[in-house]
Amino acid sequence: MSADGELVAAAREAQAKAYAPYSGFRVGAALMVEGGRVFGGCNIESASYGATICAERTALAAAVAAGHRRFVALAVVSDAAHPVAPCGICRQALSEFAPDLSIVSEGSNGARRSWVLRDLLPESFGPGDLEGR
Ligand code: THU
Repeated sequence: MSADGELVAAAREAQAKAYAPYSGFRVGAALMVEGGRVFGGCNIESASYGATICAERTALAAAVAAGHRRFVALAVVSDAAHPVAPCGICRQALSEFAPDLSIVSEGSNGARRSWVLRDLLPESFGPGDLEGR
């Protein structure tokens, strides 16, 4: 299997754990850290809808909490037929650590799309902007 294929497969495993009773839209993510370890994440919804966490940020939180801050690639999968891109909040959260992160997404129809995070979040606000206050 290709590197993308393996990361997508890990995202599908994570998607199976999604808690999405309100939207019925299950999302899985797999974040590869430098050195090759992979951290999975799923969306976790809440009866207080705004407290919902996306799959991508769940994976990011798992990796950071395990002591990792250097990321190589992210895979995203969902119930949509087409490949979905990470939402704006997740783009910002990921960009904090890895503005040049490679992202691959696979739809339930098997089609894939790939991006570099910087292209999805151009002219972004980042840690450097807090300097020189
Ligand atoms: N969702 C994600 O997990 N990742 C995204 O990039 C987009 C949206 C989740 C949040 C919510 O649980 C459901 O998908 C519908 O928006």
